[in-house]
Amino acid sequence: MISANEREQSTWAVDFCGISLAHPVVNASGTYDAIAARRVFGDALLEDFPFSAFVSKTITPEPRAGNAPRRIWETPAGMLNSIGLPNKGLEGFLAEDLPQLAELPVPLIVSVMATGRPEFARLVEAVGAREEVAAIELNISCPNVLSGLIVGEQPSETEALMDALRPLTGKPLIVKLTPNVSDPAAVAAAAEQGGADAVSLINTLKASAFDPGTGEPALAAGHGGLSGPAVRPVALQQLRAVSAATEIPAIGMGGICNGADAVEFIAAGATLVAVGTESFRDPRAGARVAAELRSARPKRLAAPVPLDLE
Ligand SMILES: Cc1cc2nc3c(=O)[nH]c(=O)nc-3n(C[C@H](O)[C@H](O)[C@H](O)COP(=O)(O)O)c2cc1C
Repeated sequence: MISANEREQSTWAVDFCGISLAHPVVNASGTYDAIAARRVFGDALLEDFPFSAFVSKTITPEPRAGNAPRRIWETPAGMLNSIGLPNKGLEGFLAEDLPQLAELPVPLIVSVMATGRPEFARLVEAVGAREEVAAIELNISCPNVLSGLIVGEQPSETEALMDALRPLTGKPLIVKLTPNVSDPAAVAAAAEQGGADAVSLINTLKASAFDPGTGEPALAAGHGGLSGPAVRPVALQQLRAVSAATEIPAIGMGGICNGADAVEFIAAGATLVAVGTESFRDPRAGARVAAELRSARPKRLAAPVPLDLE
């Protein structure tokens, strides 16, 4: 006979693109370094991992050093970053990081980005072939070197990229949308049309700050991306619009700090929620948000809240 505890566990579990997750809270790419966390917390991290799946930092075909410092600037309700995707590149990731990430007790989602379709294809084929990988997240906030256009800002570029990548793997493909567009729902619909299994949103909002002491840009790159509670209402509106325009599941993120915030994202249409910037303040935030969400027991809406036709 199934115990009350087991029944509770099974009702809390989520099926996401055929991947069974213990609860709906994952991390946002680039905001939780599981390898560094394991060095600090040891095997205790594996016994009580804060997320139900782990999303890697975005990897690119070749190694990148990232931008020069200063790369982080705190804002009143969030932070600006211009980290610039530092990573070991595909080969370094597969040889050094993947074996360590495969030891995590949760499914692994690998985030990838490239500036051309052939390079994107190389990433998807190589990562998709690894059995340690449950799904691939496509970070499309990148230029296509041929057209010069930011892929995720154009529905046509997004659909063409999906047409090229979809045949290369049977693993779920999650398209990470940029919020820096007037109509994110059109990009999401194009991703779905091209065969995406899910979307995730939002990435950071393009933003700037100036150091009042010097009058110079606060970040060495001149501008960066805003994240944290400041972006939450923007994320909720974009999620609502995307959910109304697509049938595929969405991972909602943008300033989630607690269970009540997560409830809002689920009400707006998210199947999973991701915790990002809050993990810098509290490395156990994922587990806390999951526990708070569970006690809030949100009524999963049968359909997303309808959009007003303004
Ligand atoms: C320091 C930092 C690094 C990030 N790196 C990545 C990345 O490598 N790939 C990616 O898709 N998003 C990256 N993001 C964006 C987050 O995954 C997330 O979409 C965004 O921060 C909004 O969520 P939040 O407000 O909860 O942080 C990064 C965000 C921050 C703050």
